[in-house]
This record gives sequence, structure tokens and C-alpha cells, in this order.
Amino acid sequence: MAVTQEIAKAINRSGKSAEIASVSNMDALIRELDTRKFDLVWSALYHVTENEATIGTGDNDEDWVADILDKRRLPYIGPDAATMKALIHKTATHDILDKAGVPVPYHYQIEPGQALPDIMFPAFVKPNFESRSVGINDNSVVNTVKELEAQVGFIHKNYDQPALVEEYLPGQEYTVLMLGNGAYQEFLPGMVTVDPGLLGRYPILRADMRGVGATKIQPAGELSEKTIDATAKAMKALNCLDHVRADMRLDSQGNVKIIEVNGIPGLKPVKSWSPQIYTLHHASKKGEMEDYRALIDHIVSSALARYGIA
Ligand SMILES: Nc1ncnc2c1ncn2[C@@H]1O[C@H](COP(=O)(O)OP(=O)(O)OP(=O)(O)O)[C@@H](O)[C@H]1O
Ligand SMILES: [Mg+2]
Repeated sequence: MAVTQEIAKAINRSGKSAEIASVSNMDALIRELDTRKFDLVWSALYHVTENEATIGTGDNDEDWVADILDKRRLPYIGPDAATMKALIHKTATHDILDKAGVPVPYHYQIEPGQALPDIMFPAFVKPNFESRSVGINDNSVVNTVKELEAQVGFIHKNYDQPALVEEYLPGQEYTVLMLGNGAYQEFLPGMVTVDPGLLGRYPILRADMRGVGATKIQPAGELSEKTIDATAKAMKALNCLDHVRADMRLDSQGNVKIIEVNGIPGLKPVKSWSPQIYTLHHASKKGEMEDYRALIDHIVSSALARYGIA
């Protein structure tokens, strides 16, 4: 809620006006949408659910906010529900990108009770539907069939969803922000660096390292072009709009591979990766909060232009 208030404040200072509709369940959401008037909606949620702990795929297919907005012909920021559903489902994202010729790790989605595939080690095991590194720790990197079995079991037992087993990418991590569409579109790359004192056995972002200021975004340097190229192809294949972020790492040969694409990237001023990347590329003399307002205005203005709203 604090982040939502910061976003509204930034919009209000840009000469446009924003109001917050606070809702705590589906009835409240429908009531707000049907009784108030909005030119453009910006949802902080993918779908409405009683479960606050994890994202998951929603209790019902009809609960996706973008579908609810489409039904009411209300313009909104971000991709449509079909894309959001693909982005939340890491295997679905991989499959779409693979088909489009965008490099992704080899991957297997494993349901409870399903036989384990014969794979190359080391591999990486994570929940199929999560965010903020939920379910990721040093045991996520597996080197033997026994470790694979144990970690797949850990995901099934604790997260009530399929496990995703994929190629372990040992190289440097990057993230690229897609900002705006058409004439407003920019791809802004960054290299993800971590306080080395926090790393355990592997150079990965564990759950306990997220949201605590452990990561810093630095220039992507000579990888800028390759990471932008992979992201531009991925965003097109997935039909992404307005403000979407692709995360990637280098494989053992130094090739860029996309690990996931985020449909609602974090916007906490000025700690989230989006504001950090924006400042890296567009630092103003007035400081990071001014950059933050410019970032928010870019997203809103680009979405308004896409809908032809003056
Ligand atoms: N195949 C992989 N090889 C190596 N490290 C990986 C792999 N997949 C994920 N990781 C590590 O785990 C972290 C979280 O993974 P990922 O980005 O897929 O999940 P997430 O929880 O959805 O993250 P986000 O908070 O960005 O939405 C990555 O930032 C990376 O450090
Ligand atoms: Mg990620």
C-alpha cells in the first residue's frame, strides 16, 4: 500500500491525477470499478485471491484483474490477462520464448507423483508460479538425482504447485526493463550485483536476500546489446506492454538465457530494480525521486497514448 501511495503521489505531481481504490476482496473491486469513473486503471495485483502468501494461478480463471477490466472496456496499464497468465506460469513463458527462438534454459515441469526426467547436472529447482525468490535457497541447485528428488519434494510439499526443473545458469545475472510502447518504447539493461558477504554456496538470489536492499543494479556494459536483443524478442513473443522486466543469466558458455519475465515489476522508490535501472540510464540533476516521477510518468503517458487518451 505504501508503494501504491508513492505511485499516486508521483502521478499527481506530474500534472495528471490519480486516485486509489483500496479493495480487499472481489466484491469490493467490482463495486469500485462499477461505481467510480477511471480513465486508466493501474492494478498492483495479477488476480484476486484470499491467499496473501503466494501469487499462484488464482482460484478461478475469471479472477484475473485484466480480464475484469477488459469486460468493462476499461483501459489499463500492462499486458492483458492471457499474457499475465503466461508470465506467472514460468514453464508457459519458457515454452512461448523457446518457440519464438529466444534462448531459455532446458526445463521440465514436474507434478507431484510424476517420474523425474533424466537430466544434465547441475540443475535448478524452483516453484513454477512464484515471485520474490519464494522457495529458492542454496538447495535449489542440485547436483545428483538424490538432491533433485529432495528439492522437487520440498517444492511440492511447501508450495502446493508443480516444481520447475531447469538448467542451472552459473553466470552473471542481468535484468532489462521494457518501458513504453511504439515511439515511447525503451529497453534499459542493468547488471544485477549482490553484496558478496550475503552469498552462500551459489551466486543466486535466495528468498532471504530479496526486499532487503542486498542487490544493486550496475551498467550492463558489453552485455547491453545481447540482453536488449533477447528482451526485445521476448517482449514481442509474449505481447508485453507498458512496463515489464525480463530477468536473465549467462549459461556455462556465456550465452544469455531468459529465466523469467515479470508482468508487474516492483516500483518501490527508489529500491526496486525498475527505479534503479531508470536512474542508471536517465539520472537527472534533481535526484532519484525526480527520476522516479519521470519513470512513472513515462509508463502512464505511454499507456494513455496506446489507448489514444489525450
Ligand atoms: N536457472 C537458474 N540458474 C541459476 N539461478 C537461477 C535460475 N533460476 C533462478 N535463479 C536465481 O533465483 C532468482 C529468482 O528466480 P526467478 O527470477 O526465476 O524467480 P522470481 O521469484 O519470480 O523472481 P522475481 O522476484 O524477479 O519475480 C534469480 O534472480 C536467480 O538468482
Ligand atoms: Mg526474477
